[in-house]
Amino acid sequence: MKLLSSLTKNDLEGKIVIVRGDLDVSNLSEKDIRLQRLIPTLKFLLDNNAKVILIGHRGRPDGKYEEKYSLMPLIPILEKMVGTKDDWELRENLRFDPREEANDDNYAKELASLGDIYVNEAFSVCHRSHASIVGITKYLSSYAGLNLEKEIENLEKVKNKPDRPLVVLISGVKQDKLKMIEPLSKLADKVLVGGRLPDLMGDKGLESVRLATDTQKIIVGNLIMDKEDITLNTIERFTKEILKAKTIVLAGVLGKFEDEGHSQGTRNVFQAVVNSKSFKIVGGGDSLLALNKYNLVDKFDWISVGGGAMLEFLTKKTLPGIESLK
Ligand code: 3PG
Repeated sequence: MKLLSSLTKNDLEGKIVIVRGDLDVSNLSEKDIRLQRLIPTLKFLLDNNAKVILIGHRGRPDGKYEEKYSLMPLIPILEKMVGTKDDWELRENLRFDPREEANDDNYAKELASLGDIYVNEAFSVCHRSHASIVGITKYLSSYAGLNLEKEIENLEKVKNKPDRPLVVLISGVKQDKLKMIEPLSKLADKVLVGGRLPDLMGDKGLESVRLATDTQKIIVGNLIMDKEDITLNTIERFTKEILKAKTIVLAGVLGKFEDEGHSQGTRNVFQAVVNSKSFKIVGGGDSLLALNKYNLVDKFDWISVGGGAMLEFLTKKTLPGIESLK
């Protein structure tokens, strides 16, 4: 894999570099962790006299324009973080065009025609075979961004030789996380399932957490009546497993933590993870938001900008976005 960190001023001076960024932000602010992790790559390019065209997506607008998913509100925020737009520009949400998610070849060619070099700095989308992640690499010399390089390095520590027991907490609201539970149970010693996922599992999610045995690999949490948080018994059981862990992967929030009344699960479980002496990794858009809210940003060994991408990277040999940089 070619790394952006291997390039010098000679390689970059006067070049137009297309940066596929992680712009699916939870926080329209300079505090957003995805934005912060993009800045070193942008500064590296601008300091080496390259021009940057920043591309990315936000949300799931389904191939058509929707104002709430526009990337344009990010311009003043990015200006504060990297300086005025003299030598960089931000393009509108790629997913407003259905050809992005279809990995359409003409769209990939159109995107590639905007610049001379391509940099993937969007780890959180590397599990998607989309035009701006995979298709474009056919047409331009392509590199892994500075953060993407570090993501791979840190996640490989968990994937290849984790200190055991390895406990994975998988949570959140995205239905597509369900298919990750089984593969994760092959890597981990315990998989704890929370957030909306128990509800999305149907009958499997109805078993009482109190009946879960010590030898059981997958422990599915129970939800309170309105399904917006996990129960106290679940917090207790999850905490017991967290205390035994030597490596923890935290992927997703445990409830609708934005509401004070539904924040108990997320606050307590995140705190239990932080208090443990294990090697700790956390990832995913909402998790990053919760870290900011509870001031836990510097309490992890690695914060991944990916949610689904992090879990797929841990359980699969590789990801399409990483493979296409090789
Ligand atoms: C994420 O938030 O995990 C990424 O932006 C990927 O989003 P997606 O699941 O909509 O592809």
